[in-house]
Amino acid sequence: MARILTGIQSTGVPHLGNALGAIEPGIEISKQAGNESFFFIADLHSLTTIKDAQERKQSVYAVAAAWLALGFDVENNFFYRQSDIPQVTELTWYLSCFTPYPMLANAHSFKDKSDRLSDVNAGLFTYPVLMAADILLYDADQVPVGKDQQQHLEMARDMAGALNRGVNSEILKLPEAVIRESVKTVPGTDGQKMSKSYGNTIDLFAPAKQLKKQVMGITTDSTPLEEPKNPDTCNVFTLYALLADEAQVSEMRQNYLGGNYGYGHAKKALLELIVNRYSEARAKYDALMSEPEIIEEQLQIGAEKVRPIANEVVKRVRASLGY
Ligand code: ADP
Ligand code: TRP
Repeated sequence: MARILTGIQSTGVPHLGNALGAIEPGIEISKQAGNESFFFIADLHSLTTIKDAQERKQSVYAVAAAWLALGFDVENNFFYRQSDIPQVTELTWYLSCFTPYPMLANAHSFKDKSDRLSDVNAGLFTYPVLMAADILLYDADQVPVGKDQQQHLEMARDMAGALNRGVNSEILKLPEAVIRESVKTVPGTDGQKMSKSYGNTIDLFAPAKQLKKQVMGITTDSTPLEEPKNPDTCNVFTLYALLADEAQVSEMRQNYLGGNYGYGHAKKALLELIVNRYSEARAKYDALMSEPEIIEEQLQIGAEKVRPIANEVVKRVRASLGY
């Protein structure tokens, strides 16, 4: 039996990149026989960037509603909010003391964030330690993440190894990253990686009008309508190919290569694909967001389910360190 664990930061409403890169692959894995899945909302991580309590709370509900709407079976798995299990911050401290400073200084995500953000706080710097604690606190075997999180996973393994060597015992289980290669990085409307922080998202749970505006606003080159277009350098095509079946993709490729097919046509086809694929999830999402008590109840049930596991692991670590 493999224990699968993954977290999603509560920094707004999940977008298409989050759905394709994290939520859907996670749900798929959770359905495989013999797996038990721990999926949680990383609301302590989001404090590195969101200081407004109401905004964070709203984001937690939005993320939870997204997982539920996309079909995560919370009854047969573990679904919880990071901050409901404060043992994670205790483990973070122990791991910090086994983490070489240069390891954190070399983190791509810290370099990236410290270049971009005006509030460069220590929480951003120690972010990978909290993430390692998230994983190690539950003896996770496999961690499905996008490629951008690979370095964090390597760090989590290094930290676990360092603590184990430090106490001369296999106290912490080393997790494996599961990178969904077929999806890799979902591009945003401007061609860079889709990310809330770049303002280039396709918000699959947004009202129809906004969703349409985002899709129609995808950046393309200025090849005239009549001329053939290169699908392999086009953002719209890349997104289309991530969502469509094989026959649809090959037809779209022919449309591009044949000419007399404009980017506007391709965008319309992409929008239709998104709306069809997510119509049920969008309705479920709206229903849940109008009754957040239902979401809250699910999170409380989840916290009760994981608490004993976290307690047991922290006890083990404390004892190994002589506390
Ligand atoms: P954002 O960059 O929008 O703030 P997060 O950092 O909260 O997104 O990412 C949450 C999860 O979604 C992570 O597992 C991450 O790997 C995945 N993810 C985010 N953006 C993308 C993307 N553009 N393509 C693939 N996966 C993504
Ligand atoms: N850092 C991850 C992200 O930005 C979210 C996260 C927090 C996470 N803790 C985790 C992912 C533990 C996997 C395992 O996407």
